[in-house]
Amino acid sequence: MEFSVKSGSPEKQRSACIVVGVFEPRRFTSVAEQLDNISDGYLSNLLRRGDLEGKAGQMLLLHHVPNVLSERVLLVGCGKERELDERQYRQIIRKTINTLNETGSMEAVCFLTELHVKGRDTYWKVRHAVETTNDTLYSFTTMKSKKDEARRPLRKMVFNVPTRRELTTGEKAIEHGLAISAGIKTAKDVSNMPPNVCNPAYLYEQAKSLETEYQNLSVEAVDEAQMAELGMNSYLSVGRGSANESIMTVMNYKGGVPGQNPIVLVGKGLTFDSGGISIKPGEAMDEMKYDMCGASGVLGTMHAIVQMQLPINVVGVLAGCENMPDANAYRPGDILTTMSGQTVEVLNTDAEGRLVLCDALTFVERFEPEAVIDVATLTGACVVALGKHASGVMSNHNPLAHELINASEQSSDKAWRLPLWDEYQEQIESPFADIANLGGRDAGTITAACFLSRFTKKYHWAHMDIAGTAWVGGKQKGATGRPVAMLSQYLMNKAGVETED
Ligand code: BES
Ligand code: MN
Ligand code: ZN
Repeated sequence: MEFSVKSGSPEKQRSACIVVGVFEPRRFTSVAEQLDNISDGYLSNLLRRGDLEGKAGQMLLLHHVPNVLSERVLLVGCGKERELDERQYRQIIRKTINTLNETGSMEAVCFLTELHVKGRDTYWKVRHAVETTNDTLYSFTTMKSKKDEARRPLRKMVFNVPTRRELTTGEKAIEHGLAISAGIKTAKDVSNMPPNVCNPAYLYEQAKSLETEYQNLSVEAVDEAQMAELGMNSYLSVGRGSANESIMTVMNYKGGVPGQNPIVLVGKGLTFDSGGISIKPGEAMDEMKYDMCGASGVLGTMHAIVQMQLPINVVGVLAGCENMPDANAYRPGDILTTMSGQTVEVLNTDAEGRLVLCDALTFVERFEPEAVIDVATLTGACVVALGKHASGVMSNHNPLAHELINASEQSSDKAWRLPLWDEYQEQIESPFADIANLGGRDAGTITAACFLSRFTKKYHWAHMDIAGTAWVGGKQKGATGRPVAMLSQYLMNKAGVETED
């Protein structure tokens, strides 16, 4: 998709389609009013006859509106003017894009970016129009033998801004929106790949292919032999039942000044989580191919920030592994010695994410990080607590937690903080080892984070549980690309990039 910004009046546009809003009940936006005037009341006539009420998401496609140079006019219901918030704005853009794509308009000039959206500026409206458009047009067809594509797909969108003064802002918003969209697409593509293709080596290859495009990105693999030397026995144990070798991919982006301490992102990369010997029930087990969405989220974020060439140093770790039952598999009752030296009693082999992450989190100490953020589809309990709408954030450092929540609000990639009080630590005590890998039924998301906190004492750390947000199940099954937008925003803030008008 191609995007651009423009500042012009609707009647002067010569395009396949111009997109203008109508509020409920039957109230013109100023742009629609201009079109009505030059068409001698053609639009108000339609509204009077009841063709469009203006309810949010209503669409009316018109051809050859008198005196209008564009071939089509798409009237878009925007709901009540005073109720237009960011969620409704995105829904309206989504419907608009689908309508344009299905009705043969290969390009369009869109005036919806001029609408007043509560609490949001032009930068936000343009950036989110770009992100939402790309998200809407995404489909995963790599594995289909026949691909059915729209006959005349939407190719080019022009977003109109109210004044020429806002053109630079709009262009910046497009550039950022494109980078974030590219990162989200990378995350979705890798996540949607089936687990017989997407294994730990595949994650490494994806990172490698990004490396070839950018000079200041280097990518290395830590394989099983190296992990054994480092004493990463906990990580290794999880992968022992799998025929696919565990591989930890380390991506090093140097956009900042040399010597500046990096921000480290660590992604859980279970390319399939069967549960291991504590095997999962069969229902929806296919969705456990998405247990690598932490890793793909980190990969996607790295893509976005190297495309923007943010002036900051960032290390991205993809903790690739597969959890399978097998004669070699680790078992409940095993006691593992982690890279940190702490011992762990395995009570359930399905609580494997924390066992992989704990060693990865010890490994990253070597980077002397300014902060470490791990991202993981860690607990079903997080879906119970927050549903599919918000990622969980937990941290040992309040300012870091606040920075992440702020980034989530700025990027409309929802996240909510959960507490990490010491009271919860008791739940993961073990009679035989230093820690148990299970904390019982209560507060499962928090006790999983408590487990990780035992390995992150040497730096500022936050944990994001994306079990509810990384993909959707059911008929619309697919990866969402979350939390690429939020993490990219966090890093843009860290790098001092302006993301406002
Ligand atoms: N990958 C799962 C968590 C998960 C489950 C994410 C369902 C999204 C949807 C994780 O490895 C796991 O199995 N967690 C267990 C932990 C339990 C054994 C303490 C869970 O949540 O049931
Ligand atoms: Mn599991
Ligand atoms: Zn898992």
